[in-house]
Amino acid sequence: MWPKNSPPQAFRARRERLTAKLAEPALLASGFARPRNFPNNRFPFRAESHFLYLIGRHIEGAGLLLRPEGAVLYAPAPDPAEAMWTGPAPSLDALAKELEIEVRSVDDLAVPAGTATLPAQDLETTVWLAEALDRDLEAGGGADVEGADLRLAEAMIETRLSHDEAAVAQLRQAAEATADAHVAGMAATEPGLREADVRAAMEARIIASGMTCSYGSIVTVHGEVLHNETHTHRLGERDLVLADVGAETPEGWAGDVTRTWPTTGRFSSTQRALYEAVLSAQRAALERVGPGVRYLDVHRAAGHALVAALVELGIFRGDPEDLYARGAAGVFFPHGVGHLLGLDVHDMEDLGDRAGYAAGRSRAESRGDRFLRLDRDLAPGMAVTIEPGFYQIRQILENAEELGDVADALNTAELARFADVRGIRIEDDVLITETGSEVLTAAIPKTIAEVEAAVR
Ligand code: GLY
Ligand code: MN
Ligand code: MN
Repeated sequence: MWPKNSPPQAFRARRERLTAKLAEPALLASGFARPRNFPNNRFPFRAESHFLYLIGRHIEGAGLLLRPEGAVLYAPAPDPAEAMWTGPAPSLDALAKELEIEVRSVDDLAVPAGTATLPAQDLETTVWLAEALDRDLEAGGGADVEGADLRLAEAMIETRLSHDEAAVAQLRQAAEATADAHVAGMAATEPGLREADVRAAMEARIIASGMTCSYGSIVTVHGEVLHNETHTHRLGERDLVLADVGAETPEGWAGDVTRTWPTTGRFSSTQRALYEAVLSAQRAALERVGPGVRYLDVHRAAGHALVAALVELGIFRGDPEDLYARGAAGVFFPHGVGHLLGLDVHDMEDLGDRAGYAAGRSRAESRGDRFLRLDRDLAPGMAVTIEPGFYQIRQILENAEELGDVADALNTAELARFADVRGIRIEDDVLITETGSEVLTAAIPKTIAEVEAAVR
């Protein structure tokens, strides 16, 4: 499979949908590549997602001006002196034809008074925007926008929350490449290799599919470190590999999948039991997810199922409902069951919780709920992840304050039998449909039998 781009009409329709919601003009920056040790040694450039949503191209140093009378893309004119190094760039006229939008030189950018914008994450783009708009802006300030910027943020969220046909096609492509990567990672696993070997096999598939990674890959035998970014450990005979790896299409749309598998291709009995527990939590969440459903209830369905399974296994003593109410789920599953997925792996989190939380809702403070990034009523066209897990995290298990009033219910002697499970997560990408939901990443081995067969 090689990625297919969306047609120019898809971007025009998005620009028109967004512009119709705007009370004032808006300027969206594409951003700049970050230099490393000298200006021409740069980290790969990826355009800002709001820009990408409306243009579909990583054009560095550009601005998109939206006004009721039409959109204008202000782009840097090709520099003939650069062509020797970077190859010929399309003229502004060629760009206009290809993207079906009016294009002018960025040197001519002049924005009307009162133009809104969305703050960038990095300082350089923020400075560029602040100069163009002649006002102060704060890098990463998306959570605190006000006035015209707030109105733009809300219009953008409303536009991007439910994915159009072109976006869904992109998510499907990302899901397919992500699936290839996970199958390749399982097949490449063997005790004695390193985490880096598995990561390389997975990312090789993504690169060969014409895509990039949508976030820093987690491929680790220490899945209990939630954002483990090292890949140096050797794979031991009794280890589980937790791989959270996703592909991103050239237009920027993300896959985000986690699978966990035994290095030998055979789960031990304790690994099997806890894998089934996480799978039952994921199944409970997947059964719940659909249009009109409050996402917090999906999160809670996963937590309830996990606690019930842990009581069955003897890890907790007591009544599952009562244990859940006392925060038992958060002891082993401290993060949320998922988040919005789209152009960003945590879609629109540059705008803080505004995209993930419906008006009038905010994060709960309780253990188990406080890291939940999404609490909206789901609607057709939204994409979310469903990713429950089980982790033995010392910072929680050895901290009386963290354990709170479930400390007494935890059977530590029984838990000690499960020492060969440090972290398990099972994560899929789900599209909400008119009648229910569709797991976009369903092709990836997930049951114990499927996973064991896929590991060599
Ligand atoms: N890969 C990031 C996440 O699962 O949220
Ligand atoms: Mn995720
Ligand atoms: Mn993930």
